[in-house]
Amino acid sequence: MWGGRFAAQPADAMQAINASIDVDQRLWREDIEGSKAHADMLAARGIITQEDNQAIQGGLDQIAAEIAAGEFKFSTELEDIHLNIEARLTERIGEAGKRLHTGRSRNDQVATDFKLWTMRAAREAGDGLRALQKALVKQASAHADWIMPGFTHLQTAQPITLGHHLLAYVSMFERDRVRIIGGALEAAWECPLGSAALAGTPYPIDREMTAQALGFHAPASNSLDAVGSRDFALAALANLSIAATHLSRLAEEIVLWTSPQFAFASLSDAWSTGSSIMPQKRNPDAAELIRAKAARVGADFAALNGIVQKLPLAYAKDLQDDKALTFNAFDSFALSITAMIGMIETMRFKREAMRAAAARGYSTATDLADWLVRELKVPFREAHEITGKIVRRAEDSGVSELGLLPIEDFQAVDPRITDAARGLLTVEKSVESRDSYGGTAPQRVREQVERWKEMFE
Ligand code: ARG
Repeated sequence: MWGGRFAAQPADAMQAINASIDVDQRLWREDIEGSKAHADMLAARGIITQEDNQAIQGGLDQIAAEIAAGEFKFSTELEDIHLNIEARLTERIGEAGKRLHTGRSRNDQVATDFKLWTMRAAREAGDGLRALQKALVKQASAHADWIMPGFTHLQTAQPITLGHHLLAYVSMFERDRVRIIGGALEAAWECPLGSAALAGTPYPIDREMTAQALGFHAPASNSLDAVGSRDFALAALANLSIAATHLSRLAEEIVLWTSPQFAFASLSDAWSTGSSIMPQKRNPDAAELIRAKAARVGADFAALNGIVQKLPLAYAKDLQDDKALTFNAFDSFALSITAMIGMIETMRFKREAMRAAAARGYSTATDLADWLVRELKVPFREAHEITGKIVRRAEDSGVSELGLLPIEDFQAVDPRITDAARGLLTVEKSVESRDSYGGTAPQRVREQVERWKEMFE
């Protein structure tokens, strides 16, 4: 395709390092879409004839059918998807096929194809996140008032509801979704096609027409920028990486919750694996691999950033390696989402174990301090001190929950403490009391479940 000025063939290893067809054949749909828009425009502007355009359109449709049917022979000698499709087109329709590449270059072609692919993949990732949110909201709704320990520093802090914990991830995934979709909207702003190799083209092309046909808002206003920039992919990978990090945190919770030490939940058989040596084991491999994939998505971002940051304008072949990284990131993410939905939908929670864990570790100590502030007008710092002394008494006498400590022990520290105060120190009362907006009280969780359901409609 470019051999005119060469006398000898490239070395085998030259071909191997240069060819990208094994990776970029995934761009075939976008490449054909872009070529069809380009040919229509060339014909509309009289740069090629209507007959040539008809031959090109028909030929490209047949090639699309061939590829979809798995009948297309991709060739390494033809380097990449663009040259593979163009060569096949000429094979099928002759002369007219050779006119398709008028007024464009592979540089604007690949920038356009890859941008289209990334925009689509981002929208699909957004759909995946939405599906995961729905699975989480369903579980949150079913467990709005189930009690579990809330942690800070992974130390028992205050009792919370399981529904509230699950909805925290729904909030996180909503921001991720908005970021990812926002990235796709931003990418749709400018269409690179027609920027040609780097400087534009002398042909009287209509860039508005191709931009519109491909679903972009406008043609890119600077040809050097358009062919040499990949920030749309960088943004997609950065956004994906943040979402993958959130998936990884949820995966980490699943690993903890399903361990016999926590025993808060168990995974279904479909989402557990066994051990070849320890028959009792049920391993959360999918959750662990979601953690690993998050690291790889982040690494894909870092690698692409490294590729782009040293490049002078405009296109350099380094940019060819953008695709393997981006495809890997989106593939890893999609698989992680599917696995996470599977685990969440079929996970079973253990009410008694969670409640018992919530009651341990003097988790209702803050409730006593709050009572002292509210009922006795004790300054909070002082209430904190009094409560601390009572916790120490409980610890010293081996009583595991404040609510089980005899009233005499409370009154030994502060005689004003009543039975009514002691009665508030159950985990149920504790979560019910935290009914500020966005708080853990079951009625607040139910309110948020309804809000999410409305948003999903
Ligand atoms: N396969 C190339 C890529 O993905 C296409 C652009 C090639 N352009 C060039 N001047 N060699 O980046």
